[in-house]
Amino acid sequence: MLIQIQAGCLRKLRAAHHLSLSAAMAAISLTQYSIFSKPSILFSRNRVGTFNLSLAFSTSSAVSSDDFHRRKWRLPVGASTVELGGVKIAKEDVVRDDPTNNVPDAIFTKLGMQLHRRDQHPLGILKNAIYDYFDRTYSNKFEKFDDLCPIVSVKANFDDVLVPADHVSRSYNDTYYIDSQTVLRCHTSAHQAELLRRGHTHFLVTGDVYRRDSIDSTHYPVFHQMEGVRVFSPSDWETSGTDATSYAAQDLKTCLEGLARHLFGAVEMRWVDTYFPFTSPSFELEIFFQEKWLEVLGCGVMEQEILKRSGRTDNSAWAFGLGLERLAMVLFDIPDIRLFWSTDERFTSQFAKGQLGIKFKPFSKYPPCYKDMSFWISGSFTENNLCEVVRGIAGDLVEEVRLIDNFTNKKGMTSHCYRIAYRSMERSLTDEEINDLQWKVREEVQNKLKVVLR
Ligand code: PHE
Repeated sequence: MLIQIQAGCLRKLRAAHHLSLSAAMAAISLTQYSIFSKPSILFSRNRVGTFNLSLAFSTSSAVSSDDFHRRKWRLPVGASTVELGGVKIAKEDVVRDDPTNNVPDAIFTKLGMQLHRRDQHPLGILKNAIYDYFDRTYSNKFEKFDDLCPIVSVKANFDDVLVPADHVSRSYNDTYYIDSQTVLRCHTSAHQAELLRRGHTHFLVTGDVYRRDSIDSTHYPVFHQMEGVRVFSPSDWETSGTDATSYAAQDLKTCLEGLARHLFGAVEMRWVDTYFPFTSPSFELEIFFQEKWLEVLGCGVMEQEILKRSGRTDNSAWAFGLGLERLAMVLFDIPDIRLFWSTDERFTSQFAKGQLGIKFKPFSKYPPCYKDMSFWISGSFTENNLCEVVRGIAGDLVEEVRLIDNFTNKKGMTSHCYRIAYRSMERSLTDEEINDLQWKVREEVQNKLKVVLR
């Protein structure tokens, strides 16, 4: 399997300098955004998960990261590979049985799929519609990046955008780590600082992002975001009679209200104040759609510190990040996030390049099958880890994993009961198939999650 993500200089960089993957990515690398809108909190015990966390937080860990890379990052030997930024990356480089790595096989297979680069795919159609808005409104001033490599350094993903050291998003429970210094980007903001350092002032970055999460019709561990950044110079705001921050905030709101009207027509909208580590002030835009307020994007005035570190002390800027699936589900009437990955022609043939208005017509809905599973948990249990195990076995046949019962007995032991909904979007599942899946799930849950089945 050879997949092209980014034509670039990563291969040269690594080959010439024998760099570790993360060092090479850091050198060139240039929503569901809700997790970032939570202020920094220390991990509670049950967020820690079964993975070894210690390395994620220390840059001076016992294993030096260079040694670590030198030992581990060997060239692929005949195994499946993906091509990222012109370099072939072996599965063994991304998925390893090592406490600093929590990337499962299923995620490796998604690297390089780049649904957002397919013009006839709902995500590609939406991306292009947003491009059209920016091209028209700003006479082609915004540069577009849609093939930046999703493997980024911890520095790019978190440090460069000022995510605090104790922020929950950094945990092994929430983010996919390849090693202690390298992650699968969990947001497109991972590219902000590098692009600014390279001198870009108006840009859109679209890409696949990766998050460990629960399972339901709107959550999938891989989804797509678009980031927008616009930098202003003193001459922009000086003539306006307002200060730099108010100027940027006003421009941001005007821009995004225009975008929402471009996509949705005349809709009711509202701005909600929120928190992101990388912007201040920070806002969410909500639109009133089908009788509900829907959060469509997060944004704000870029923290001055990010600009300063990128050599732009005198400037101000805004940034936004929007989740493409969330918008596409609404715009195309797509009921389940797994459908974006479907290769079934009954799905793919319904969309056409440049056509934003098309409404998806569900082909017959196959019946779900529910299986319950109860177990005594240990302190390290997390729902994200459970979901990873279930997806590892059942793949896209799992529709939802839901906690339906939870109690602690007199001895202080806690029991959870989860209901797993199995449903294919493409065919009927047989009883035998589901029983087999459930049996495997139970076995794997018992082995991997250190719980005691009841
Ligand atoms: N990166 C944020 C997220 O994924 C979204 C965001 C981008 C918010 C830029 C503000 C500015 O949650």
